[in-house]
Amino acid sequence: MTSSRKTEVLQLLRNSGDYVSGQQICETLGISRTAVWKIMNQLKEEGYEIEAGQNKGYRLNGTPDVLSLAELQSRVKTRMAGKELLYFDVIDSTNLEAKRRAEEGAPEGLLIVADKQVAGRGRRGRSWESPAGANIFMTLLLRPSYSADCVSMVTLVMALSVAQAIEEVSKLPVRIKWPNDIVVNKKKVVGILTELTMEADYVQYMVSGVGINVNQTSFPEEISATASSLYLEKGQKVNRALLVQKSMEHFDENYEIFCRTDDMTGLIGAYNTLLVNKEVTVRVLDPRGEYEGIAHGINEKGELIVEKEDGSVENVYAGEVSV
Ligand code: BTN
Repeated sequence: MTSSRKTEVLQLLRNSGDYVSGQQICETLGISRTAVWKIMNQLKEEGYEIEAGQNKGYRLNGTPDVLSLAELQSRVKTRMAGKELLYFDVIDSTNLEAKRRAEEGAPEGLLIVADKQVAGRGRRGRSWESPAGANIFMTLLLRPSYSADCVSMVTLVMALSVAQAIEEVSKLPVRIKWPNDIVVNKKKVVGILTELTMEADYVQYMVSGVGINVNQTSFPEEISATASSLYLEKGQKVNRALLVQKSMEHFDENYEIFCRTDDMTGLIGAYNTLLVNKEVTVRVLDPRGEYEGIAHGINEKGELIVEKEDGSVENVYAGEVSV
């Protein structure tokens, strides 16, 4: 059975929110009663709670926490972000796969999602732990027409979008740690790695990879003071496919606003509201010399505005700050 049939059945059930008759499913999808019955059985085996009512048809009562192509495709209905989707149970790295697809000519908006990575990559050459069955590893391919200077801001747009999605789905007090880490109760739950491929002097494509610690139940002792998962902070599992869906919906909306000006002008307010560093003293880890100051939020270029003790103001455009 193709996953597109399953996608269509899931979509019908989800959109209706009530019973859908077997007859209606057959007619809408042009398939037989037996085929419908088989799809329902397969969905039940995967953990979907499907109620079959006498003379009423089928109703979707519950969705398991599965990441599958059918589950993702039945949810993500965005204009651009995730309009094409690929899912892998295991992959080396979703960023690497997105780049391979980009080289083959894949379109802007392609989203690669995996349940597990065996060569997950973090920033500054670090690796990103990517165990199976609990977290989200996804990468979005973009083919921008703006200059390379704007690319670092897209990471901020992604951080904002994922933070908004987490807030919407889990109701956790989620915050962004400038520029693009997402924290809950000061512990990191999301990391973002954006990579860029240039051709002569223009951006050929870029990939924005997001790792979300969703339902991971424990962390190695050496990082448990600084890293966590949504599950550990909330005490309740979060549906991963729903989180992918909401992240792409927010990105679609925010990216459209971003592209009107090719900068953060229209998103400063939303970003600063979620900024953990706003109006607090930060230490700027500038390679030319570290200093402290009060962070007042970002400007239209996505730089962090930091007021030093002597009253002078620095616009920090790269690097890390510690809270
Ligand atoms: C960081 O170091 O904070 C960034 C981590 C980014 C991890 C994500 S997981 C999905 C995508 N694929 C990768 O190999 N890395 C990114």
